[in-house]
Amino acid sequence: VRAVTFRDETVTVQEHPDPQPRAGELLVRVRAAGLNGADRWQLARRPPHYPPPPTAPPDIPGLEIAGEVVACGDGTTRFRVGDRVMAIVIGGGQAELCVVHERHAMPVPSGVDWPAAGGLPEVFITAYDALFTRCAVKAGERLLVNGAAGGVGTAAVQLAAAVGAHVTATVRAAALRGAVQALGADVVSAPGEFAEHGPFDVVLELVGVATMPENLQALAIDGRIALVGAQVGDDTTVALDALSMMRTRATVTATTIRRRTLEEKAMMARALERHVLPLFERGRLRVPIAESFPLADASRAYDRFARGAKLGKVILEL
Ligand SMILES: NC(=O)c1ccc[n+]([C@@H]2O[C@H](COP(=O)([O-])OP(=O)(O)OC[C@H]3O[C@@H](n4cnc5c(N)ncnc54)[C@H](OP(=O)(O)O)[C@@H]3O)[C@@H](O)[C@H]2O)c1
Repeated sequence: VRAVTFRDETVTVQEHPDPQPRAGELLVRVRAAGLNGADRWQLARRPPHYPPPPTAPPDIPGLEIAGEVVACGDGTTRFRVGDRVMAIVIGGGQAELCVVHERHAMPVPSGVDWPAAGGLPEVFITAYDALFTRCAVKAGERLLVNGAAGGVGTAAVQLAAAVGAHVTATVRAAALRGAVQALGADVVSAPGEFAEHGPFDVVLELVGVATMPENLQALAIDGRIALVGAQVGDDTTVALDALSMMRTRATVTATTIRRRTLEEKAMMARALERHVLPLFERGRLRVPIAESFPLADASRAYDRFARGAKLGKVILEL
């Protein structure tokens, strides 16, 4: 099987042995796979390191896939050969064949094509988990999304708008601000220029910890902040003002997904099926795709992702 393969901080495409599904797993012929920040962290191998978990393929990146089931391991019950599925995986997704735990697989909603399905699971699960499971965003609340033009940001803006939250989005690339507004943001501003639109009940921080002091200053009483993003090479420590946290009775939550247990990730997939995929079925949500590349051009796809100033996802089609 051909797969994106990291060799000494370069992106190559190489042959690997076919993965085999074990009990409870599906073998998927991958049609599309999204790129994510964690792939870049793994490639860069600079501190702060973000290596793949020990059970993931060490050199094949890829955290989200969509494709057809081609074999079912013992004990699988839900999906059959030929079904269109999408899933989060702990690595190895940017390959022609990928093994997926059946409980992490979801049906591809009708009307969602392969590129969109391949770029959906990681970012919509991340956005849903941070906004609703961790921060309990409610209709009418004020939400700030910092770094809103990327994969997670475009998912979060749409989800929050769909439930009736008032969304302020910060977007670095001026040319993308109109497109983020069209996804449902009420206000789109440059990074750092959000204070006048607060105070915010919830802040989704996708850029990094550096903005946390300003986030705290703009937080409403009983506000919640979810720290989700950190960019390769950024500092990951900052001093926080305890008094402003106490004044607002702030809740700060920080999260990653990849190393959660099988059970926790299965619950996240079920939550997505129940609360988010129906909105895709009805055409209310979409996965903006900045650019997609064939597998042979994987290196160009990584360059495109690193360049930024993109709306939504960079996708590999296989
Ligand atoms: N914790 C988790 O479980 C989890 C899961 C998924 C993703 N993440 C992380 O969450 C973050 C967002 O993910 P994503 O998929 O949306 O990534 P993405 O598509 O690369 O989007 C990142 C966004 O942040 C903006 N940005 C980056 N550096 C910035 C800076 N210094 N100032 C202002 N804006 C900046 C980018 O703007 P430009 O285009 O202008 O650079 C881009 O719009 C990433 O750090 C990713 O690693 C975490």
